Amino acid sequence: MKKVLIAYYSFGETKSVADRINKILEKEMSSQIFLIEDKKNYSIKDQFKKEKELELKNPVPSMKEIDYLFIGSPIVSFSSAPIVNVFLKNLNQKELSNKKIFLFATGIGLPGNTIKKMRGILSMNGIDVEKDRVFSSIFRFDEKKLKEVDEFIKETIKK
Ligand SMILES: Cc1cc2nc3c(=O)[nH]c(=O)nc-3n(C[C@H](O)[C@H](O)[C@H](O)COP(=O)(O)O)c2cc1C
Repeated sequence: MKKVLIAYYSFGETKSVADRINKILEKEMSSQIFLIEDKKNYSIKDQFKKEKELELKNPVPSMKEIDYLFIGSPIVSFSSAPIVNVFLKNLNQKELSNKKIFLFATGIGLPGNTIKKMRGILSMNGIDVEKDRVFSSIFRFDEKKLKEVDEFIKETIKK
């Protein structure tokens, strides 16, 4: 049985996407969610101010056994959340070789450098990304909007 890990940071909207990915994939594989949290629970604005001293609340789970990894972030000031960047920096390149990695982000329509930033951190560690997607969170993620997530899954895993 294939295994997927869905890691995300969120105040709500990104969680909706992560939960949907989990709901679809848990039917056919072993699915685990990892909430990216910062140890000191800084507000998103303070995360930028304290960027250099940010630490993950929980250690990055082992990726040895997984086949797929999804990483999600809200878009904040045209970029990914600083604590998500810490998570990305902590990923183990050796553990992730031959695994398929997908990125997603939610925002109100100004993605800026979000995906480029996330890809850049991973690529500095020699980690490649298969596919990414930005979801608009201008309107709430109701059932109709969550169909976009289903499409993303079709394009990624259920090809
Ligand atoms: C401080 C702050 C800055 C933001 N900057 C952006 C931005 O640059 N571009 C964008 O599209 N959305 C921006 N947003 C909107 C959020 O990314 C969007 O509401 C997102 O879906 C929130 O996800 P969450 O509920 O999972 O935290 C910003 C929100 C906050 C609070």
